[in-house]
Amino acid sequence: MDQFKVREKFISYNVPDLTEKEVEAVDGTIRSHWVAKGPRTAKFEEEFAKRVGAKHAVAMNSCTAALHVALLSNDIGPGDEVITTPMTFASTANTIIHVGAKPVFADIDYKTGCIDPDEIEKKITPKTKAVVPVHYSGQVCDLDRIYSIADKHSLFVSEDAAHAIGSSYKGRPIGSHLKGTASYSFYATKNLTTGEGGMLVTDDDEIDAKARIWAGQGMSHNAWNRYAKGGTWKYDICEPGFKYNMFDIQAALGLVQLSRLDEMQAKRKKIAEKYQREFAKIDAVEPPFVPGYATHSWHLYIIRIVPELLTIDRDRFIVELNKRNVGTSVHFIPVTSMSYYTKRYGFKKGDFPNSEKHFDRIISLPLYPSLTDEETDYIIDAVRDIVKKYHK
Ligand SMILES: Cc1ncc(COP(=O)(O)O)c(C=O)c1O
Repeated sequence: MDQFKVREKFISYNVPDLTEKEVEAVDGTIRSHWVAKGPRTAKFEEEFAKRVGAKHAVAMNSCTAALHVALLSNDIGPGDEVITTPMTFASTANTIIHVGAKPVFADIDYKTGCIDPDEIEKKITPKTKAVVPVHYSGQVCDLDRIYSIADKHSLFVSEDAAHAIGSSYKGRPIGSHLKGTASYSFYATKNLTTGEGGMLVTDDDEIDAKARIWAGQGMSHNAWNRYAKGGTWKYDICEPGFKYNMFDIQAALGLVQLSRLDEMQAKRKKIAEKYQREFAKIDAVEPPFVPGYATHSWHLYIIRIVPELLTIDRDRFIVELNKRNVGTSVHFIPVTSMSYYTKRYGFKKGDFPNSEKHFDRIISLPLYPSLTDEETDYIIDAVRDIVKKYHK
């Protein structure tokens, strides 16, 4: 085989897909002088709800805010337990603590990386009030199983759909199977970005009304248009709410990104399919497994190395990719190994064996619409070269 030639330019781990259309939309919003929450946010909510097949959508300034509000709107609080996964970003669990409840962790299914429904059942106690499953990396959780457990034990389900714009379960988008809520992230790295931003969707009129209050300073009515002709200056504060709303500059970006979502998703899918094909041929790496019920959004492309076949570990593999000018990331360091969580809840190594084993092996590779064919091929070759060099 030829000597591997390191390219000159570093391949970034992530680059948001922004075009002149987004620039014009933001420019137009600024020129309209309505830059805070207003008509564009309302339109983005309406279009987003339609897109994912939910009745209501409430736009917020992050997915973290949406996850927090989802629990508040279901009166989850002190004395309650909420089950989630260790394999997530901290905000999934932090927001459970923010409402005064106790996060209880259920290990992942090693095959998919998503929370294991059998493990959820094992962790249910009389105090359990909710489950927060995470559609990890854009892979989807087994919702029928999770919903049937939730029905049996009267639990609220707040889906963490931060990665799941573009994901479907059994042919229908995440957001259209709802029993509770789903919360999406529009952070810069996500499949659809507003810079920072989030959306909570629900089919439940009462949750929608409560979420608007919690996310809007606790004001009793939707006050965004109180300065417009016919708007009223009167309001009550009926909850000690949060300043979590989205504003129109973000929504202007979001509306354009939503209109481009199919085009952006098609590019992600093409790259992911090439990765899937090529990595399946390399024995010392495992491409992600996608179950038959799932359409993966390909938010993240996560390979697992097979350390049994290599003389190097995951950390060194990342260094080797970096030396070859390939940017990477790791999703995630299990929340249960973070110092706050180990100190407060006493978690120790071995408590979540599947999450720990998965964590030791994972590498997130670059995957975004503007990644070129040449870059994709180069990344595959770089992985192949490292495996060849460090194979046992
Ligand atoms: C699984 C998961 N949940 C929640 C969040 C929080 O999203 P945001 O940054 O929009 O608050 C993230 C962030 O990346 C995430 O990865």
